[in-house]
Amino acid sequence: MIATVVICFMNGLGFVSWGIIGLVVLFVAVEAVILLYYKNTFQLWALQRPWNLISRLLLPLVEIVDSIGAGNTNNCMITFNQYGKNFCASGEVWMGSFAEVKKSVQNPQGRNFWLGEHPLLPSSLPHGESGRCLFLLSLASKAVGGTGDHEAFRKCVVDTLLSDATVARESDSVAKEIMDSLTADFAKIDSGFDFYNSPVGGNQEFWTKYLHHVMFGLDIKNKEVMDTLNSLFTGDMALMHYLYPFGYVPHFNLHSQIAKVAELYEKSPAFKNFKVKAEYNNMTAKELALLMTSIMRIAGVQGSRMLAWFCTSGVIYGNLRIDAREVWDTIDLSNEDDLKKYVLEVSRLSPPVTVSHRVAMEDFSCEIAGKTYNFPKGTKVAIPLVFANIDQDVWGADVWEFNHKRPGLEKNHAGFNSVDGVGNRECPGKSLVMRTMVRILQDLGKERRKQKASA
Ligand code: HEM
Ligand SMILES: *[C@@H]1O[C@H](CO)[C@@H](O)[C@H](O)[C@H]1NC(C)=O
Repeated sequence: MIATVVICFMNGLGFVSWGIIGLVVLFVAVEAVILLYYKNTFQLWALQRPWNLISRLLLPLVEIVDSIGAGNTNNCMITFNQYGKNFCASGEVWMGSFAEVKKSVQNPQGRNFWLGEHPLLPSSLPHGESGRCLFLLSLASKAVGGTGDHEAFRKCVVDTLLSDATVARESDSVAKEIMDSLTADFAKIDSGFDFYNSPVGGNQEFWTKYLHHVMFGLDIKNKEVMDTLNSLFTGDMALMHYLYPFGYVPHFNLHSQIAKVAELYEKSPAFKNFKVKAEYNNMTAKELALLMTSIMRIAGVQGSRMLAWFCTSGVIYGNLRIDAREVWDTIDLSNEDDLKKYVLEVSRLSPPVTVSHRVAMEDFSCEIAGKTYNFPKGTKVAIPLVFANIDQDVWGADVWEFNHKRPGLEKNHAGFNSVDGVGNRECPGKSLVMRTMVRILQDLGKERRKQKASA
């Protein structure tokens, strides 16, 4: 287009060039006005008529820009307060009542290249030698037309990496050492250590080490191993590699780091007895290793880090409006059940993963701000786990209060993509993360109490 503009100028067709420039300026101006003032109303209109020329022209950019911040709990609560449980944002219809989220997570789902509210760049996702996509979150359930890859690959992940050997490594001496150094780093906060953001030690490196030790059996004391892992897991920007269109930017490109980490995974103890099996749809070791790089980066390490931050830092975030440490300080640290409830209550009010997604397999309608609207089959639907966790119809009038002893907390918590323990896409890392968080709260809690007593 730029070439056309220049050529027309050079050939005395200036009016064509000015015409093109004018149209571009108009386009940018219209998009800016929509994004500033009519973000959600425009998307409501456009998502009902995706084939309309105006939708096709204007929705893609609105969708991308809006998706950047739409899922952050602070931001989505603003939209929630404006429209209620249902609205249109990030190019998706958000249906956020507890009942609707429950139905979504407990039933088979159509899927596409989305991560909750974010559009994904397909070429950034792990693919097998045959070209098949390996990213679990983008694979449709078999019952709604999927290939069966989701179920088969998921089983392969669980059998290989969340096995009895994983649980055994959680209580070995290396795991204890990793925990002890987390506690030692926590003790250094008062003397200025940046426990939550430091790339070395602290909360960041803890999760990289701990999860790769217990899940893969990797030798995290080996400097080369840690350098390779840190090249992918340090920092919060790695998600950009996976997102459309940001993944195109060379600065965010992580393909070479990912290849090196996948090589480590493939040689790890957890892969030692790996066999290609029909029940795993013939997933190869290399495919599983690649799949795991994306899972560890997007779900495992990032989500867990955030959860530990919410639980131990006292940060006020989303619907978590108190310094939760004051509650932590009152819990009997030998009571694992109470500590688990504390983690669930923190993540109810401020979930590390706020939104999941599905693709509507049929035409559907829903009520938005008091009126009913119809959307066609194929519409992307956001599943706001964050809203299910604060639906007054289920949680009652004290929904905004912090009460880890509230009835139904575990049963109704939607933050791991299931309700009542039902959901074929429930986070398979849930029990490992919960056990680890309880352990962290015990060890850091003891340290915190020791410091308080001596202060
Ligand atoms: C040990 C660390 C973790 C591991 C290994 C892990 C693993 C996974 C895997 C493999 C999936 C894909 C499941 C599927 O598509 O069938 C998944 C999904 C999910 N995980 Fe985790 N996860 C971890 C930590 C977390 C944390 C801390 C949270 C937040 C509280 C979380 C919340 C979720 C949610 C909501 C999904 C569903 C996403 C979607 O389908 O859109 N995970 N996790
Ligand atoms: C897996 O491999 C076996 C043997 O080569 C073949 O019969 C089967 O069709 C393959 N299954 C899939 C899902 O590719």
